[in-house]
Amino acid sequence: MHEDFLWGGAVAANQVEGAFNVDGKGLSVADVMRYSYRADHDYKKQVQITSAAIQQAMQQGQDTTQYPKRRGIDTYHRYKEDIKLFAEMGFTALRISIAWTRLFPTGEELTPNPAGIAFYRQMFAELKKYDIEPIVTLSHYEMPLHLALVYNGWADRRLIDYFVRFSQACFENFPEVKYWITFNEIDSIMRHPFTSAGIIPDRTKNLVQVQFQALHYQFVASAQVTKLAHEMIPESQVGAMLTKLTTYPNSANPKDVLATLHKNIMNYFPADVQVKGYYPKLILDYFAKHQIVLDMTDEDKQLIATHTVDFLSFSYYMSLVAAENESGLEMTGGNTIVGGKNTYLKTTQWGWSVDPVGLRISLLELYDRYQKPLFIVENGMGAHDVLTSDFQVHDDYRIAYFEAHLTAVKQAVAEGVELMGYLSWAPIDLVSASTSQMSKRYGFIYVDADDNGKGTYNRYRKDSFYWYQKVIATNGENLTT
Ligand code: BG6
Repeated sequence: MHEDFLWGGAVAANQVEGAFNVDGKGLSVADVMRYSYRADHDYKKQVQITSAAIQQAMQQGQDTTQYPKRRGIDTYHRYKEDIKLFAEMGFTALRISIAWTRLFPTGEELTPNPAGIAFYRQMFAELKKYDIEPIVTLSHYEMPLHLALVYNGWADRRLIDYFVRFSQACFENFPEVKYWITFNEIDSIMRHPFTSAGIIPDRTKNLVQVQFQALHYQFVASAQVTKLAHEMIPESQVGAMLTKLTTYPNSANPKDVLATLHKNIMNYFPADVQVKGYYPKLILDYFAKHQIVLDMTDEDKQLIATHTVDFLSFSYYMSLVAAENESGLEMTGGNTIVGGKNTYLKTTQWGWSVDPVGLRISLLELYDRYQKPLFIVENGMGAHDVLTSDFQVHDDYRIAYFEAHLTAVKQAVAEGVELMGYLSWAPIDLVSASTSQMSKRYGFIYVDADDNGKGTYNRYRKDSFYWYQKVIATNGENLTT
């Protein structure tokens, strides 16, 4: 890898920090998402929400058992210990998000909460101590609940101003941060509109129309924030982020190939808008055909065209297959998606297909399409781990996953792909975004907490910790155990 290649991991505030009501923090959409025991592929149940469920969650104001993101892994109090462990692995980068509700508890305040600013200032100082470059996501499934309740989230244009105000406060107070990502997996509005954009489906007559509208407002906000970042922090680089849902045709039947092409065009389009600066014509025609009419002004189009992103980041976990007639397909789970199962691939305990070649394909496809620097900001696997009586975790399955994926990454780079770095999801066990389980473990570091929040919260190095340490020390040369 090139000498500035960024090695590290990624987390999100709502999945790690806990302390959901401490030091003035407001409730976020993540704080009302219930624990879901399901380990199968029924992701719609995992992410569904109703107005009644939100009211119930708000009444259970102190409950951290059913609402695990309220407790996270207690990073709010343990971030120094965690950063020290990341430094021990040799991290040169850590992706975090800034909880909007720590700075603006309802989203409508005019000035940020000093305690929230102070917390992140301390965190950035700690990262600096170890020369770890922060990669900061401004919006990662944790917008103020108040904005969801009052405005139906990003369905309302006024959200743009609130988000710009929050972003401006971040740029003002954290000028040492060079790399910013505006919206985590921006395309995910179409799959889980509440956690991505604060849209409460039962308040919405035409959900699809509202989802595309919200996406448009996020594009405008992202362009405004990109402009602002460039003005306020001249050396900053701003990235878009896509869920790379690599999908293959289930067969060589041209009808299956066509169905797959349509899915992939939809998956790419949010990146097209943010990287190229305009809506693809095929998408505009799709809107027209499906009576999707958006509030999209000339000024919006101008902003989107002028303030495109500097790099494209993406998450990659698995691949799927598609067919013209999906009723004949065996379905399996994926990253907040259900799709056809690929019989050539093995799956994780959560049903996600393990496909390292798909990562190489994704890198080549994305680079060929955009010719922009790419950044892998999430890649990893969830698994049940066992902590032995002498506090070890022998996670050879995780090492095998990363070894295969990093081999694919190196092959793509050798073919010419421009890659800024590689961040694992997640370097430490955390609360799952979709199910809020702790038992779906991703980390190189084990956190002693169970699905009910019971445990010491002590951290333990897994076997994969030492493996990743060696990978980083050799700049990716040595991937073997
Ligand atoms: C990505 C998200 O979609 O996938 C993360 O950006 C999330 O927040 C990750 O944790 C893995 O998904 P899950 O549902 O297994 O936590």
